[in-house]
Amino acid sequence: MAGEKAAVEAKPLLNLDGVTAGYGNTTVVHDVDLVVPEEKIACLVGPNGSGKSTVMKAIYGFADVFDGRVSFDGDDVTGRSPQASLRSGMAYVLQSSSVFSEMTVHENMLMGGYVFDDDERATRRAEELYDEFSRLADLREQEAGMLSGGERRLLELARGLMVEPRLMLLDEPSIGLEPTYMEQVFDRIESLNELGTTILLVEQNAEKGLSVADRGYVLASGEIQYSGTGTELLEDEEVGRLYLGG
Ligand SMILES: Nc1ncnc2c1ncn2[C@@H]1O[C@H](COP(=O)(O)OP(=O)(O)O)[C@@H](O)[C@H]1O
Ligand SMILES: [Mg+2]
Repeated sequence: MAGEKAAVEAKPLLNLDGVTAGYGNTTVVHDVDLVVPEEKIACLVGPNGSGKSTVMKAIYGFADVFDGRVSFDGDDVTGRSPQASLRSGMAYVLQSSSVFSEMTVHENMLMGGYVFDDDERATRRAEELYDEFSRLADLREQEAGMLSGGERRLLELARGLMVEPRLMLLDEPSIGLEPTYMEQVFDRIESLNELGTTILLVEQNAEKGLSVADRGYVLASGEIQYSGTGTELLEDEEVGRLYLGG
């Protein structure tokens, strides 16, 4: 397939090679091979509890890597701290809501840029993002705790973008959102990608996730069961029957 060929030929920005990971002495995922080509979208789907968030955490440094290797832009980053991941250009938007509810939208945005250690730069970057996220611009003085679920998700995305990441790790960005907000979040993900951000997406809405993905992976019981282009997985009968409710 032409799409597959292009995806394989694009330089990998993130590469997991035989990664076994978990927490303390609990192994959750086994021997995971996964590639996110530069400037593409890869999507990881699979049942609840299969280890999707653990893969994300292993990449970013919130989980322990017991075996295998994580490479980012050609560097071995296995077992690196979350701080180091952030500084190197990865942003991780957590599955659970992570806004500071007592702070305003704008204060949340500035928190996203704290690694700059430069208030002016953070303010400048926030202004750039308000041009793109006009809803957030309107809400900038609003306490984040007062936002709707969809607005909160937009704030989490925008806050992640404060550091101008090369790679965004998005863990279930559409969960719990009404359909209109879900569409907005997916539109945002696609436009971010068009502007050059590489994205690894975990999605419970497998059909939607795979439909925006250049590469797809199905994880079940801690192991990658299927991989291919997003389209290949969507069209695969077995994947459809087992994981897409088709
Ligand atoms: N911090 C943790 N310590 C120990 N086990 C955990 C921790 N977080 C998740 N797990 C376990 O790892 C397994 C996979 O969880 P997770 O990666 O969150 O799956 P998914 O994101 O696919 O729903 C679950 O059995 C869960 O209980
Ligand atoms: Mg999860």
